[in-house]
Amino acid sequence: MNHLALIQAMPKAELHVHIEGTFEPELMFEIAQRNHIQIPYQNIEEVRQAYNFHNLQSFLDIYYAGAKVLIHEQDFYDLAWAYFKKCHADHVVHTEIFFDPQTHTERGIAFETFFNGFQRACQDAKSEFGISSHLIMCFLRHLSEQEAFETLEQALPFKDQIIAVGLDSSEMGHPPEKFQRVFAAAAEAGFLLVAHAGEEGPPEYVWQALDLLKVNRIDHGVRSEEDSQLLARLAKEQMPLTVCPLSNLKLCVVDDMQQHNIQRLLQQGLCVMVNSDDPAYFGGYMNDNFIAIQNALNLSEAELKQLAVNSFNASFISAAEKKHWAETIAKLSV
Ligand code: HPA
Ligand code: ZN
Repeated sequence: MNHLALIQAMPKAELHVHIEGTFEPELMFEIAQRNHIQIPYQNIEEVRQAYNFHNLQSFLDIYYAGAKVLIHEQDFYDLAWAYFKKCHADHVVHTEIFFDPQTHTERGIAFETFFNGFQRACQDAKSEFGISSHLIMCFLRHLSEQEAFETLEQALPFKDQIIAVGLDSSEMGHPPEKFQRVFAAAAEAGFLLVAHAGEEGPPEYVWQALDLLKVNRIDHGVRSEEDSQLLARLAKEQMPLTVCPLSNLKLCVVDDMQQHNIQRLLQQGLCVMVNSDDPAYFGGYMNDNFIAIQNALNLSEAELKQLAVNSFNASFISAAEKKHWAETIAKLSV
């Protein structure tokens, strides 16, 4: 088996994917049409041309606009089901999916409408493909602490089916400390905790996510490399960083993939792994991300396997399941 075949063959977990970011233009057109909603594009080609981002905010503006065509429970089901089909094709056997309640509740969509759609797709993925999944609800950090508290309240009836809360959207100017109290309340209610930090924001935001929010994982975190004390801590605690290579390239967090730090972080003993973030917008799903770093960085067989093992170790599955997947990956040979 060569390296590309190993990438395909390895079972993998995905820990950083926004379900609204898996919205492919073809499905967006189909749902817009059936819901009689106008979108500002004539055809798929025009949509792709609009995906010409230069930073996080220029992406987010388009990402939130696209989500507006989602109205009915079936729309949310179709969105999630399309993503699970990609997981199946890429041999992603477990996924922990972000959703943004406020993107939908702000438009008058009831929590149960999108939640039931996602939940039903998760059940079907288990029965059809054997893919396990968890749902993680994110607070939009450009909105207020009060609005995050309201969202937490709305989620309480569904709390047994939501494994964690997260924090996403515009990072600069919205440091983790803004959500310290709401994260404490979420922990009290039994949710695990994750947060985007150190994507565009400075290492200070990663420190805050660790010390003030008390997260179980950091999403992105690639700017931690600028602070050696922080790196030492992340390595010592084996605090996972859910790294998203094609996202970092597309949003200009790195200038080219050869400069991406995922391999350096791995070699320094950090628990990093590969994720797709918003694959419909950034040029690819799990295996596309693996192939992109493999072509740029020429990872060894051991490094590729470590990335896959880390994806399970950093996930919220049981210790027995983690052991099972590590053993399965170890047995594969190139
Ligand atoms: N960063 C912050 N917010 C997001 C992202 C991201 O990469 N994707 C979707 N919302
Ligand atoms: Zn993200």
